[in-house]
Amino acid sequence: MTSLRARITALLIAAILAVVGLATFAASRALQPPPPETTIEPIARQIHLLAALAQTAPQALRQAGGTVQDQPAAGGEVLERMSRFLTRALDRTGPPRSAIVNRTGSEGTLTASVALDGGGWLITPVPDPAAPDNQWRSLAVWLAVIVTGSGALSFYAARRLTRPLELLEGAASRIGADATLSKVDETGPAEVRATAQALNRLSERLAHAMDSRMRLVAAAGHDLRTPMTRMRLRAEFIEDDTDRDKWLADLAELDQIADSAIRLVREEASTADTQPLRLDILLTEIVGEMAELGHRLRMDPMPATQVRAGPIALKRALRNLILNAATHGGGAQVALSQSADHAQVTIRDQGPGIPADLLGQVFEPFFRVDPSRAKTLPGAGLGLAIAREIIERFGGTIAIRNLSPRGLLQQISLPMA
Ligand SMILES: Nc1ncnc2c1ncn2[C@@H]1O[C@H](COP(=O)(O)OP(=O)(O)O)[C@@H](O)[C@H]1O
Ligand SMILES: [Mg+2]
Repeated sequence: MTSLRARITALLIAAILAVVGLATFAASRALQPPPPETTIEPIARQIHLLAALAQTAPQALRQAGGTVQDQPAAGGEVLERMSRFLTRALDRTGPPRSAIVNRTGSEGTLTASVALDGGGWLITPVPDPAAPDNQWRSLAVWLAVIVTGSGALSFYAARRLTRPLELLEGAASRIGADATLSKVDETGPAEVRATAQALNRLSERLAHAMDSRMRLVAAAGHDLRTPMTRMRLRAEFIEDDTDRDKWLADLAELDQIADSAIRLVREEASTADTQPLRLDILLTEIVGEMAELGHRLRMDPMPATQVRAGPIALKRALRNLILNAATHGGGAQVALSQSADHAQVTIRDQGPGIPADLLGQVFEPFFRVDPSRAKTLPGAGLGLAIAREIIERFGGTIAIRNLSPRGLLQQISLPMA
């Protein structure tokens, strides 16, 4: 019973049952019939009166509802206890007379036969003092109706009350690997609306913070350029040839890093050169160029596939991803397929993959799994950040996961043109 809905339902049912139970108890106490002892004596007195009438004014007796017979009333079940009860009451209220009570005729009335002094029997109806014996049955039906009714109502009420919360639950489950949150509808009761608003504000701020971090990275890259140019000029004057070459190589790498950092923002900003292009041709080009550089690449046959994107930007993104598989993963296998209205590019390698607890961070700028291992490979940890910026700009998605037993799978999905 961990869900809020189950708890509300249970609470409502318990509350309704408690109230109805108490009310039923109070009502049954208030409506209880008087005890039979208090009602039987007036009846006995009436019977004595009728017996007297039977002897003095038989005419009046008939009008009072009694008759005289030679035999006690026949037919119907004889109620032994009731007969004794009535006989005792007659003893208490007048001259002793023996009485026989039968259950005859209509429901709720009994027939009493009382022996008269001079022979013969007075026959008269008497009310049935016993409680109707279907009382418990009607109580059970009453309770069953309440249980089912309150159950259904409570379930419905709980559903209605907690429906807005499902919204939040759904939103929470859609938090992306990079902690971005899709917009939550601001509807429902006040508390839920406030929470949804807070969540939306939070995700807006988060997006803003990520954005300004990118800009910071780019600004740093940009500002590094000027001192680096000065350093390059100075390095040219180093006399020792090997020393100078090392300086220049380091500076060239720094230059590349600064360049990637700046591109991170520039890529994001431009969507102007979007055009239809053949993804299969683009991939073949990239793989061809990289194979010439000595990377180990394999390519599955590719269907002709058209997407809408900026050719230079998309090429850079795909090259970053394939290059990662070729360098960090020791070789790449590239495939292209179509599913519904999306083109799917998959890039697999058989390298070490990325530790599962770090997978969430690979798209962060400057993230590198193992900086010491990566030292031998050029790059600054910006490749994946740039690739994702570009792919998402063209309406696509990128996902990265480990393969078993080893290797990494990069999946890119782009809407087809
Ligand atoms: N195919 C891969 N196999 C193993 N590790 C990878 C792979 N691709 C990326 N990585 C890890 O993710 C990090 C970030 O990649 P990236 O953003 O391209 O930066 P860079 O390649 O410049 O280091 C890499 O440093 C590497 O540790
Ligand atoms: Mg890289």
